[in-house]
Amino acid sequence: MSVRKITAKITGVGKALPEKRLTNADLEKMVDTSDAWISQRVGIKERRIAAEGEWTSHLASRAAADALKMSGLTADQIDLILVATSTPDTVYPSVACLVQKELGAIHAGVLDISAACTGFIYGASLAWGMIKAGLMKHVLVVAAEVNTSIVDWKDRDTCILFGDGAGAAVFSECHSDTDGILSIKLGGDGNYGELLELPNSGCRVYTDESGNKLGRYIIMQGNEVFKQAVRNMAECAVCVLDRAGLTTQEVSLFIPHQANTRIIEAVAKRLAVPAEKVFVNIANYGNTSAATIPIALCEAFEQGRVKKGDVIVVDAFGAGLTWGAMAIRWA
Ligand code: ACO
Repeated sequence: MSVRKITAKITGVGKALPEKRLTNADLEKMVDTSDAWISQRVGIKERRIAAEGEWTSHLASRAAADALKMSGLTADQIDLILVATSTPDTVYPSVACLVQKELGAIHAGVLDISAACTGFIYGASLAWGMIKAGLMKHVLVVAAEVNTSIVDWKDRDTCILFGDGAGAAVFSECHSDTDGILSIKLGGDGNYGELLELPNSGCRVYTDESGNKLGRYIIMQGNEVFKQAVRNMAECAVCVLDRAGLTTQEVSLFIPHQANTRIIEAVAKRLAVPAEKVFVNIANYGNTSAATIPIALCEAFEQGRVKKGDVIVVDAFGAGLTWGAMAIRWA
């Protein structure tokens, strides 16, 4: 008698976005930029902005509740809550603790993950590992950001790029040799950490040449980040497909991190994945960091672009540097 492998599949997805929209036209009034520049160079039309008093934990809890509802589980069945974020309400309590409290997930362990825009895939890998090892049955992975709290609204290089939002997925045990999560690859290179930094976000003090403390705002060498993103995202996607014994022709939907349409197009070109199989929603939300992948996965599902048997590859890149990809056969 053959025994099928224990693996994990996604049983619920959810998302939460603030109501308030900030359009390119609004930004034209704030910095020296234009709708044409932002649309052509980045692909963003508008982004959502958290209201005053709307924190990462609020968005995370809403997305998590949605994902839980779709999974058909009750909160007390969740064994672990992982929240990927670079903009927690506080370092402690963690956002995962706040989500646990909000949901009433009384049996869940709780942990925040710091892997910038790749955080959701790092969370998915931990969920998969725990479930495959037989230690847990249901893991809730949330990615949530209030990026607008770490954006310098006077810096046109960065303030046009980011938005706020949250996405979530429930990973549940299943027994299958062919379905659910097929492979995951994680990567990183601390040698390039200075390409994308959030100064004064920890115990290290950042100052300018005159010794004045810098603001707690994203600073980025955009061109270099761009090149690293294209190379590592493409290699990572190839790696997960190899590990799953699949080719790019077998991919039903490619969901890349939504940082820049030109990065997405360059990665898709390297992989030879046609545009109609690439999910892009950056125009509506901008770069929501860790949350772009689960928000996109949720929207793809809502739009009927994710069906049973489909091969989905998600692929992210972020500060650190960090990168990661995951191949799934939707079950
Ligand atoms: N509006 C108008 N002009 C602008 C703006 C703006 N908002 N920003 C820059 N420019 C100007 C520059 O000053 C420059 O002018 P110059 O030629 O007179 O010097 C010109 O536009 C070109 O600037 P570049 O920086 O070379 O523009 P580029 O095409 O590289 O686009 C961008 C910049 C959008 C930041 C791009 O490099 C990018 O997307 N990089 C990757 C971002 C990313 O992936 N981040 C990682 C994820 S985020 C995370 O992990 C938290």
